[in-house]
Amino acid sequence: MGRLRAAVSLPLHQSDRRLKTKIEVLFTPADFGALAKRDLANSMCVVFDILRATSTMLTALANGAAAVVPAEDIPEALELHKRNPGALLAGERNGVRIRANLTGSIDFDLGNSPREFTSERVAGRTIVMTTTNGTRALRAASSAKRVIVGGLLNLSAIARDVQSHHHDELIVVCSGTLEQASIEDALAAGALCDLLWHQYLPREIADSAQIARELYLAHRGDLFAAMRLSRNGRRLLGMPELRDDVQFCLQRDTIQRVALLGTDGVVRFAGS
Ligand code: MLT
Repeated sequence: MGRLRAAVSLPLHQSDRRLKTKIEVLFTPADFGALAKRDLANSMCVVFDILRATSTMLTALANGAAAVVPAEDIPEALELHKRNPGALLAGERNGVRIRANLTGSIDFDLGNSPREFTSERVAGRTIVMTTTNGTRALRAASSAKRVIVGGLLNLSAIARDVQSHHHDELIVVCSGTLEQASIEDALAAGALCDLLWHQYLPREIADSAQIARELYLAHRGDLFAAMRLSRNGRRLLGMPELRDDVQFCLQRDTIQRVALLGTDGVVRFAGS
């Protein structure tokens, strides 16, 4: 009994019985929800919402947006917008732009299609954004030492950034679809693991990273075909006005910079 009490009162890091690894992948919202219980002071997180939130943020910044502010939900987005009325409001529910029926008042300016975030629409603007999973996942990772907005669009730049910044562990966060894992994010996580594979000793690699990499290696020849296995991929491909988003988000290395979620809760390109 006495021994049990002692174990229960240990500080979190001493009582943490996870096998210590240096690279792991979180596949589901339940996994990223549990990040709040972990000490991330020396951790780096890369957050992927390939279809489409993080791909859209990267596109917005590449097209000259000043910043993207991820909001947890619609009320928070509206509150942030009230404080900064010059900002654009962006985001989706069920894949489509948030309209007045969901806000009780106004239509959002933009949805979550990266192809909407042209330089004509976004250059110089701050964008307040809320999406079903991507913005929540970013917020869940926000206490990490470095939080990188993940995309295939700039995957090589992300790999270089990870290699050039010291971290005790790399946590690759998949935003998923609703409350479940998603194939597209697992594939992107696997692609990143593959680029970084030889940076980590085998004993430092979690099985979750192995799983993601194996999935990627099995599908890398045709990622677009793999999107037909994904719920969100199928949903987008079934919407004529959004289907081209899928191919757009699968482009590799069209952007050479890395976007970070800062301690102020704002996403910007590193160094800007
Ligand atoms: C999300 O955040 O859940 C996604 O980006 C959904 C979408 O494709 O719009």
